[in-house]
Amino acid sequence: MDFKDTGEMNAEEARAEIEALREGIEYHNYLYYVKNQPLISDTRYDELFRRLQQLEDTFPELDSPDSPSHRIGAEPASKLKKIDHKALLLSLNAVLDEREIGDFVNFVQRNIAREEIAFVLEPKFDGISVEIVYENGRYTYGATRGDGQTGEDITRNLKTIHSIPLRLQNTTSLPSVIAVRGEVFMIKKGFHELNKERLEKGEEPFANPRNATAGLLRQLDPKLVAGRPFDVRFYDVLAINGEKMASHWETLKQFAKWGLKTDPYNTRCFSLEDIKRGYRKLLDQRDDLEYEIDGLVIKLDDLELREKLGERQRSPRWAIAWKFPPKQEISRIEDIVVQVGRTGKLTPVALLQPVDVGGVTISRATLHNENEVHRKDIRVGDKVRVARAGDVIPEVVERVEELGRKREEKFNMPKLCPACGSEIAREGAYHFCSAGLSCPPQLVEHIVHFASREALNIAGLSEKTAQQIVDKRMVKNIADLYQLSIDELLQLKGFALKSATQLHEALQASRKPRLDRFLYALGIRHVGDHTARVLARNFASLDAIKKANRDDLQKFPEIGPKIALSIVEFFQEEENQKVLSRLFDAGMEIEETVERKAESPLEDKIFVFTGSLDKYTRSQAKLIVESLGGRVSSSVSSNTDFVVVGKEPGSKLEEARKHGVQTIDETTFNSLISQ
Ligand code: IVH
Repeated sequence: MDFKDTGEMNAEEARAEIEALREGIEYHNYLYYVKNQPLISDTRYDELFRRLQQLEDTFPELDSPDSPSHRIGAEPASKLKKIDHKALLLSLNAVLDEREIGDFVNFVQRNIAREEIAFVLEPKFDGISVEIVYENGRYTYGATRGDGQTGEDITRNLKTIHSIPLRLQNTTSLPSVIAVRGEVFMIKKGFHELNKERLEKGEEPFANPRNATAGLLRQLDPKLVAGRPFDVRFYDVLAINGEKMASHWETLKQFAKWGLKTDPYNTRCFSLEDIKRGYRKLLDQRDDLEYEIDGLVIKLDDLELREKLGERQRSPRWAIAWKFPPKQEISRIEDIVVQVGRTGKLTPVALLQPVDVGGVTISRATLHNENEVHRKDIRVGDKVRVARAGDVIPEVVERVEELGRKREEKFNMPKLCPACGSEIAREGAYHFCSAGLSCPPQLVEHIVHFASREALNIAGLSEKTAQQIVDKRMVKNIADLYQLSIDELLQLKGFALKSATQLHEALQASRKPRLDRFLYALGIRHVGDHTARVLARNFASLDAIKKANRDDLQKFPEIGPKIALSIVEFFQEEENQKVLSRLFDAGMEIEETVERKAESPLEDKIFVFTGSLDKYTRSQAKLIVESLGGRVSSSVSSNTDFVVVGKEPGSKLEEARKHGVQTIDETTFNSLISQ
């Protein structure tokens, strides 16, 4: 792009261009981060951004704190300032019981003699409540909720979050001052990445995304906040200097026009039945959302009627939160065992007295690593709080103090591998068994992986069977599987002639795998099914992959240095070479044709859904995809094949664009599944 040389510009020219750039950049920010509909390329955006920085550097007197160039970069503060809110930030009366929702609706109906009363339903975001003030459409400051009356000044930290606009859009109907309230939260996926990083560095992980958000937003240095995957939803006007809105639904629509992000799951309804349906639907979708929610908020829509109902001490009478069943419960640790994974990583696992956590019975929970057990000071016999933080793997959150109770000894990681007695190596905060496949549990996991549906798909070779085969020392590596006779299989518990013959046949039939599946099945470190497909597509034969050096491998954008090194090392290893040659002796024939004619167009494809579909619920769509051989994931990555975009899509659409993943609408999805 041609820009005038800054050296030839006078201050007036510079001021005009700076102003145009700031407005333009914020508009494109809004299109990208709020609307998910970018109009210009990232390169073009970067050009505009650099030009603005260049002008601000040349004309420092024209610099301004609300410039988009200052989203990051401010110096750390020495202490967060206190800020008085424009209005009290009320909290919500929260209930778990359906009957109390009936009481709430009755109360509203009794006090408002109207035939039809509108309610707005919103997710209850599990984040941090903030007040943000815009003056003449410009971001002026932002504060935490604090005690509701006074909060802490987190203006600079909030500015690093791109979905919080620095300038409002469509400003014709704009009040001179508006204070809005919203919730800032961290995306679940980003939270796990953050905790993984912290655990690897030996730092204390955050207990949940809300704690991570609260912790980071109150940091004194905005650089610690910048780049973290925060998002925001706005849901209330605290003060407005201008025309007031008539209803909450109108407010939300106006917010969206101004570029204040509202939630795609917000709905409006008119009866208790609708509220109950809305609650069940949201509860069903809860785990598919990219962020944590812990209930449904029900708000009277009409703002004038709200005034009629008024407020209690700290919460309004016109709204209520219907909480989801808790995902945390108390249990007791019966034992701490150390589990050995496929890669040899040793993980301490708490065996718990079984407890129902949000509808799922939990009897085991990961303790991550030794540091974590010590930090939480967890010992056998302790009473603990157990959580399922929107995920599958349960965790021990903390110990519950029991005064006067005699406690067991402190937990220590064993000196030798508990499974095979080999030496243990330490890598950062983690311990690894150094024995590789001669360590039984590693071999069991390796066999299970080799036989899994995405790998060689050997039906009947379950974890239990693999465990028995290894325990009875029938195999030492995956090549030995092909030497197992029906007679040997008959010795396994639960096997009869029919099942033994079937497993034998399944093993023999698995000897003609596709190249990508075979590569994945080998269990090369860092080679997941996606990388395996990339390798198969680009190298076409196993020989070509074996011959490739790190540079050859790294030519493909999906393969970074870590993966390339792992592949090269795998094929260089003598033991692996032996296993490979024994597999071929056993009759392994790899189908090296890469462009395959899939039986179903969905076979092995990974789908992510965003927004709601007309024809199916999320669970139905998931079942359909899975029944056709595809998979459904809750988050977008470069492994994703399709993002199906329904009504009012969320940030996954933006993620799809970021990763260059194909997006399809509901009609295309329907024709794909009916093919
Ligand atoms: S409305 C007067 N709406 O829940 C209305 N709150 O005590 C007050 N929250 O501190 C809040 N999602 O941080 C509202 N959609 C939502 C919300 C929400 C989460 C939080 C808020 C508040 C707490 C309730």
